[in-house]
Amino acid sequence: MWISFAGIITNYKDVKQFLVQKGHKFRSDTDTEIIAKLIKHIHGLHPNYSFRELVEQVIQQLEGAFALCFKSMHFPGEVVATRRGSPLLVGIKTKTKLATDHIPILYSKEHSKLKDHRPHGHEIPAHGLARSQSTSEFLPQGDNKEVEYFFASDASAIIEHTDRVIYLLDDDVASVEKEGVLKIHRLKRTLEDTHAREITTLKMEIQQIMKGNFSSFMQKEIFEQPESVVTTMRGRINFDSETVVLGGIKDYIGEIRRCRRLLLIACGTSYNSAIATRQLLEELTELPVMVDLASDFLDRNTPIFRDDVCFFISQSGETADTLMALRYCKQRGALIVGITNTVGSSICRESHCGVHINAGPEIGVASTKAYTSQIISLVMFALMVSEDRISAQPRRSEIIQGLRNLPDQIKEVLELDSKIQEISKKVFEKKSLLVLGRGYNYATCLEGALKIKEITYMHSEGILAGELKHGPLALVDKGMPIIMICTRDNVFVKCMNALQQVTAREGRPILICHKNDQEPQKYGSSVLEVPKTVDCLQGILTVIPLQLVSYHVAVLKGCNVDCPRNLAKSVTVE
Ligand code: F6R
Repeated sequence: MWISFAGIITNYKDVKQFLVQKGHKFRSDTDTEIIAKLIKHIHGLHPNYSFRELVEQVIQQLEGAFALCFKSMHFPGEVVATRRGSPLLVGIKTKTKLATDHIPILYSKEHSKLKDHRPHGHEIPAHGLARSQSTSEFLPQGDNKEVEYFFASDASAIIEHTDRVIYLLDDDVASVEKEGVLKIHRLKRTLEDTHAREITTLKMEIQQIMKGNFSSFMQKEIFEQPESVVTTMRGRINFDSETVVLGGIKDYIGEIRRCRRLLLIACGTSYNSAIATRQLLEELTELPVMVDLASDFLDRNTPIFRDDVCFFISQSGETADTLMALRYCKQRGALIVGITNTVGSSICRESHCGVHINAGPEIGVASTKAYTSQIISLVMFALMVSEDRISAQPRRSEIIQGLRNLPDQIKEVLELDSKIQEISKKVFEKKSLLVLGRGYNYATCLEGALKIKEITYMHSEGILAGELKHGPLALVDKGMPIIMICTRDNVFVKCMNALQQVTAREGRPILICHKNDQEPQKYGSSVLEVPKTVDCLQGILTVIPLQLVSYHVAVLKGCNVDCPRNLAKSVTVE
């Protein structure tokens, strides 16, 4: 038996205990092994079951989140794959066009009830399909019937082979049988089921998933930001007429304007993008805005109302806590808005409406370009909601022009790379690094510190400068490395105050400030000058130096930049 497995089986101890009682011996303590032993056990009890039926029996016994792909010497030439809670897609490669752009679902319960009366292999196709779709014939047109199938968690793994994919849903069981025909089964029919899975054409280019001249995907993705922010805005902002249209939510804008409050729910970096935009959302929507970490939101059984609008922000669209929070809010009748980077992801599919951030595939585990594109997507949302408010027009106009200049300003910030590399040499052997700021730059502090601890394994904390005197000031002395963000906005004077408190305790911070701004510069041990933009967009320009600090420190420490220890790109378990 060959099994490819991603995810976690939460009841694996119970299953293992059962199998041990039945006489099975285990070589490892992994949840993967119980799956192999379980299928063997069921095969022993039901030697006539098809490969697909065995897998269906197995998944009924499993709890957790998983994507599984099976091959067996007992069923040569066959593959069976299934998912629950973890992403899984099937890539299809053919020489000629396929006969259909949908594949119907076959319902196994009906099949098993009727199969005694029907010849083997004649499953009952789904009801409710157009005649053209109601075929399980999934072969290319013409004489060349050659088909190759690819099973993967992420489209970037297969894009070099094919751009046609089917995204499987939870508990779909896809089987490729001997004759090379792909079928998708489900155990039972539900009302919400669409009875067919669509074949989607990916818009991804191969070079998007190659490292090119960069040493890591993270470095490539940091340097892609002048372009990724443009793709996020493309077709959505008209810089001349100063209008913004987000196609995925335009039909819901009236409902959103009438809502009780906005809730922004996410994890990690995606949560930081919510912090980065909360103030602008409050200002432009004039609605109360709550920002929550998905895990904490669920722990608190937070009250949700039918007239709430809940945003779920997620690069992967598969993060388990965020997805569970989404389902929690959906059950309570709230409007669900997904902000994701992954077309076809669970969050994408389960939302009522949403925005694709279009940052392109992000392969490095540490999120970089997705963060800046998430901020831009939320800013565009705020601009769209406030379109009809006359009093908001000057503010909207300055933000839209700020967005127009952003790509060039990001390029300018990226030119600081070699200076940042030199600064990183001074801090990479230290134990800790504090990142201080306030206002719109507070999210940058959180995000910078998250990047640093995630890929360099160095302790780092993002601290709101307003909180300094409530505890963190005790950490400050001449040996404590500090990065401080001090840009000219409505909290500049307060930031200068915090800066002086730090220098009075012999702290010599590395400063991120505006170009040619002499006042803060005299207090810094080194200075990183960034271009000035509108306050609510400044965080995009101040976070990039911190992305680069984390990258260079990780390289200097010999860490694996793209795959930090203990972390995964899609966190599909609680
Ligand atoms: C940090 C990072 C994580 C993710 C978090 C949520 O660099 O990548 O903190 O932001 O796991 O992931 P998504 O956005 O996929 O829901």
